[in-house]
Amino acid sequence: MSHRLHDIARYIVSPQKGILAADESSPTIKKRFDAIDVESTEDNRRAYRDMLFTTPGVEAFVSGVILFDETIRQKALDGTPFPALLAAKGILPGIKVDAGAKDLAGAPGEKVTEGLDGLRERLVEYRGLGAKFAKWRAVIDIDTAKGIPSDYCLEVNAAALARYAALCVEQEIVPIVEPEVLMDGAHDIDTCDAVTERGLRMLFSALATQRVPLEQILLKPNMVISGKKSPTQASVSEVAAKTIACFKRVVPAAVPGIVYLSGGQTEEVATAHLNEMNRSGGFPWEMSFSYGRALQAAALSAWRGKAENVAAGQAAFLHRARCNGAARSGAYNDAMEKQAA
Ligand code: 13P
Repeated sequence: MSHRLHDIARYIVSPQKGILAADESSPTIKKRFDAIDVESTEDNRRAYRDMLFTTPGVEAFVSGVILFDETIRQKALDGTPFPALLAAKGILPGIKVDAGAKDLAGAPGEKVTEGLDGLRERLVEYRGLGAKFAKWRAVIDIDTAKGIPSDYCLEVNAAALARYAALCVEQEIVPIVEPEVLMDGAHDIDTCDAVTERGLRMLFSALATQRVPLEQILLKPNMVISGKKSPTQASVSEVAAKTIACFKRVVPAAVPGIVYLSGGQTEEVATAHLNEMNRSGGFPWEMSFSYGRALQAAALSAWRGKAENVAAGQAAFLHRARCNGAARSGAYNDAMEKQAA
């Protein structure tokens, strides 16, 4: 077994630390910039990522950053390549390697993530650019009226995630395996629970078939949570309890860490959920964060594309990272939010 990959995975889920997902694809970052009236040019995207990555002190709470293809090749404003700038702070550079979710043939309303062709060669290149870990995201929608998700959709996505993970391990890159059950629907938390469990069972079966050593991966799942449009919203303690119970049924203890996506939860709620899980304890994995929106929303709106707002943007980002760092050990509380406000 490669101790190296296991050590990298363990490092990423060190106490107090988690991942910043800053791998928004070009269409996604444009959407984020549109909301603050900033044009999505290469220079603006670089300035924004520069602000986040150079935040003084953030390395106490962030052990890894997921980059997009454009960003891993960019230089910071001081001329240092972004991967080297991060590595110098003890933050591991990661890379999104999937090519996005496309319509799944024969399954209206369902998606399959593409990007396996040529992946081995791309991993070799990314490793040369400094990537220590990678990410591949499968997208699972819930629509109970339409019988979605189908087993077909869950199975092909699990098979693709496993093929990706096997290639990463071969190329000495830690795979972050991300099967995201979307929280967009009107379904209740028990439906999310059942779909998440069904998907994870297929995923771990595919990972076993494809000989992926579980000690060398990180799992990046959704939490078990109510759909955004559901009239009944589960409490923080219910989300924490059902998420832990679901994963205990299906995620082997050999997996070093679970790093949640935020998936559209507000920043404070995403932190509260992680905090409650770690406060409760009673599970064999590290539980950490790999948040995109829930680490960036306040920073983005403080920044608004202006150089004179960089300090304010960094303060907002550092605050959010510190809160999530505290949530790693169940030490987050309301007072931390009030202090900052
Ligand atoms: P969110 O935390 O905004 O869901 O993003 C995490 C991510 O990387 C999704 O792939």
